[in-house]
Amino acid sequence: MGRQPIGNDINPLSVLLTRPRLAAPAPRDVARKLEQISWDAGQIDDTELLAFYSPRTLRHICALRTWLFERAPLDETPDAVDDWIRMVAINRLTGHSPGFFSVYTLPPNQAVSPQSQRKINERRGQTPPDRDVKKLILKKTASLLSDGPMAPHPPSLLTTGEAQSTPKIDSGTVRLVVTSPPFLDIVQYAEDNWLRSWFAGIDVTTVAIAHHRTEAGWQKMVRDTLTELARVVGSRGHVAFEVGEVRNGKVLLERLVWDAAEGLPFDRLFVMVNQQEFTKTANCWGVKNNAKGTNTNRIVILRRH
Ligand SMILES: C[S@@+](CC[C@H](N)C(=O)[O-])C[C@H]1O[C@@H](n2cnc3c(N)ncnc32)[C@H](O)[C@@H]1O
Repeated sequence: MGRQPIGNDINPLSVLLTRPRLAAPAPRDVARKLEQISWDAGQIDDTELLAFYSPRTLRHICALRTWLFERAPLDETPDAVDDWIRMVAINRLTGHSPGFFSVYTLPPNQAVSPQSQRKINERRGQTPPDRDVKKLILKKTASLLSDGPMAPHPPSLLTTGEAQSTPKIDSGTVRLVVTSPPFLDIVQYAEDNWLRSWFAGIDVTTVAIAHHRTEAGWQKMVRDTLTELARVVGSRGHVAFEVGEVRNGKVLLERLVWDAAEGLPFDRLFVMVNQQEFTKTANCWGVKNNAKGTNTNRIVILRRH
């Protein structure tokens, strides 16, 4: 829409996933770059990963990983094509189809441990097959860019830090916030992303991802976040604050959000409830849809005075 994109998340992985999409390269530039990598020179330093990959595929993944470490260190703004290749690779690491680098498994944001993967392999009678890493990156690139480039927009501002304090974002400059916090303690963001973090060279143990067991602790985090959002959002700007159903619908997080906004300079407009009908990933692991887990999205809509 030509707006300036501004984003923040405490996990540095978020920048690696978002920044390349805001400055997407041409597919032919990606193809040219991938030709420069010495794929067969990759060194396997962790044989546990052979639970997911064939030795040849893992060597190729390691070659790409080392190449990215050298060319696109995390503390520098990298070349847009390198950044793109890393983003696609991070999202192709594991999955349930031949479109991923791994043998059949969970997606890379819910990666299982090598030990669990060995059990899955045994149960399914599967051995990791060779995959063509370069070809899969190109194929995914073509499909992601099939709609053409994004509309021109002012340069993005992506920050890594606590939502409760975002000093790099100027006061009153934001028109719309779309955000979603961890839902109490139900998702293990650090553990579930261990494989992506390995590939990217991120030490997740140093990231203070919000993980609240108690409703009171969680509500305080939300209150502190809304207080900061009241600072950055301009007059008549909106906040869409998404939460999900947890503890089998016994805890209504949207009520906690609604109450946390009490006394802040927002009009609380309404809560939008979105009943899911689509098939969840968990469904292929035997979790019935609309039974366990998060089955509805609840979005609290606020407007700044
Ligand atoms: C429900 S996910 C939403 C992710 C993403 N915004 C999206 O819509 O797909 C919650 C996110 O909150 C991030 N997070 C956890 N604690 C945080 C904090 N204190 N400040 C900012 N982000 C945090 C996690 O890293 C995770 O990416």
